Amino acid sequence: MGLRDDLQSYLEQARSGIAAASSVAEVDDARIKYLGKKGLISTVLRRVGEVPPPDRPALGKAANDARNEVEAAIAEKLQVLAKAAQRAALERERVDVTLPGRLFLRGNKHILQKVYDEAQRIFLGMGFEVAEGPEVEFDYYNFVALNIPKDHPARDMQATFYFDDDTVLRTHTSPVQIRSMLSKRGSLPVRIISPGFTYRRDSDQTHSPMFVQFEALAVDVGVTLGDLKGTVEQFAKQMFDQSVKIRLRPSYFPFTEPSAEVDVSCTVCGGKGCRTCKGTGWLEILGSGMVHPTVLRNGGYDPSKVTGFALGMGIDRVTMLKYGLDDIRTIYSNDVRFLRQF
Ligand code: DAH
Repeated sequence: MGLRDDLQSYLEQARSGIAAASSVAEVDDARIKYLGKKGLISTVLRRVGEVPPPDRPALGKAANDARNEVEAAIAEKLQVLAKAAQRAALERERVDVTLPGRLFLRGNKHILQKVYDEAQRIFLGMGFEVAEGPEVEFDYYNFVALNIPKDHPARDMQATFYFDDDTVLRTHTSPVQIRSMLSKRGSLPVRIISPGFTYRRDSDQTHSPMFVQFEALAVDVGVTLGDLKGTVEQFAKQMFDQSVKIRLRPSYFPFTEPSAEVDVSCTVCGGKGCRTCKGTGWLEILGSGMVHPTVLRNGGYDPSKVTGFALGMGIDRVTMLKYGLDDIRTIYSNDVRFLRQF
């Protein structure tokens, strides 16, 4: 047994080892084992000088040939592995172009959202800005600050969900009037709208326990009932039709004085009288009035210096009128067959 035999056996081991390798890491291991600095074949090459001089050239050539063969085998194996990896990747990503496509259902805006967006657009165009308030509200902001003290009979107008004596689900968006005035800290003008969810313990064809209101408040020096009327008229014409007329009817709200309910001429019959307007030719759309001095004071404004108007409408109601719905519950029932019509 000499170096020559060792070389032969290393070469055979290397051939079968590389042939059996199934990963780049295994091929690298073989490279180090046979051709590395201390590799088996490299060592034979280094030890050629140990054999008798006449045998050296033959051993040297054999060792060089062995090294070249192993290098070539490694290169070839790496290529084979790379190809296999590529094929596997392509296989994984294969797309069957003959499959039918996935159907995406194209939705549309909910009618409430459409009316809400439209109302907002109209008021932003008249210089109002959006203000928000919490849906879980203090009794103070929802009632007391709006001139509705505890035990006042006017509380009966709004069947309230109470959490405790001091906390309610807001029954209207009017508490945002107080919150906005306070956050303005006396600066002028105050010109805000506040759309949002409101809650009352009511449920029938025209009442939902959760509904959407839209509040507007304008406070400045010299704001008059004429400003209220002009603002509401602009709103009604843009929301319904340029031809609609409005009328103000005296009413009562604790937070306004004087107070008025606003009607628009019937959008179905144009005012002649029909089923929708119950023969009157008019449809009620909102409550409004000149902000009560007490409310201004509670918002941090001096009623001897400034005046204001406020209004609040049910977006659900406006939606029903605009789309001719006779049951508020259809708005909230989430039936796409209904909602897709609009
Ligand atoms: N908050 C009243 C309600 O929900 C509606 C309302 C009436 C709002 C008159 C106002 C207003 O801002 O001035 O019944």
